[in-house]
Amino acid sequence: MHNPKEVAGRRAAEFVESGMRVGLGTGSTVHFTLLRLAERMAEGLKIVGVPTSIDTQNKARALGIPLADLESVEALDLTIDGADEIDGRFDMIKGGGGALLREKVVASITRRQIAIVGADKVVARLGAFPLPVEVVPFALAVIRRALERKGAGVVPRLGKDGNPYVTDNGNRILDCRFPGGIGDPGALEAELDRLPGIVETGLFVGLAHTLVIGHEDGRAEVRHRS
Ligand code: 5RP
Repeated sequence: MHNPKEVAGRRAAEFVESGMRVGLGTGSTVHFTLLRLAERMAEGLKIVGVPTSIDTQNKARALGIPLADLESVEALDLTIDGADEIDGRFDMIKGGGGALLREKVVASITRRQIAIVGADKVVARLGAFPLPVEVVPFALAVIRRALERKGAGVVPRLGKDGNPYVTDNGNRILDCRFPGGIGDPGALEAELDRLPGIVETGLFVGLAHTLVIGHEDGRAEVRHRS
């Protein structure tokens, strides 16, 4: 039996070509992409990466992947990133790993966004996975109440040490369950973006172009958005 995350992560690295500026996502699936990119670099591949989190920055540095920041890079050829859920239109919930804000900024300047997931994350309707919402600390109680008024079950995220989870940007995360799931991801994203205090939501709508699904039998299935 194969690890679906490894299957998807390694397959996506094959889309990378020499000379590309590549957005490097965050999480355990991207971990395998980074390993494969390092292998390919040892064979001559030359790229510059832009990491979406401090965790990915550290991993990429340890693997010898050259990095740049957004001061020097205006646009990215390709970004490879995981997802917590993805539907048939390639709309996604992201942010399980807490990197949603930087991931969305990087996605916004990317020509081709590749989502990499194990088959269990492909869903008909988003929302079984709680939606991460990044909030400035000052507004936490305000936003929590506003989300609850919209019917969401809201859980402030805690870190492994039991203290409030703090993002790379110094913010907090509220994990939100919407009963019955999320019928219209674009409308919900727009609605939440209007609340002062929310920095970003984990709804990624219309951003992914290609989906790589890893299967336990070792197959990597590649789908393109129509
Ligand atoms: C981090 C993310 C990750 O891409 C998402 O949580 C999937 O992670 P993993 O590959 O570990 O399952 O959005 O903010």
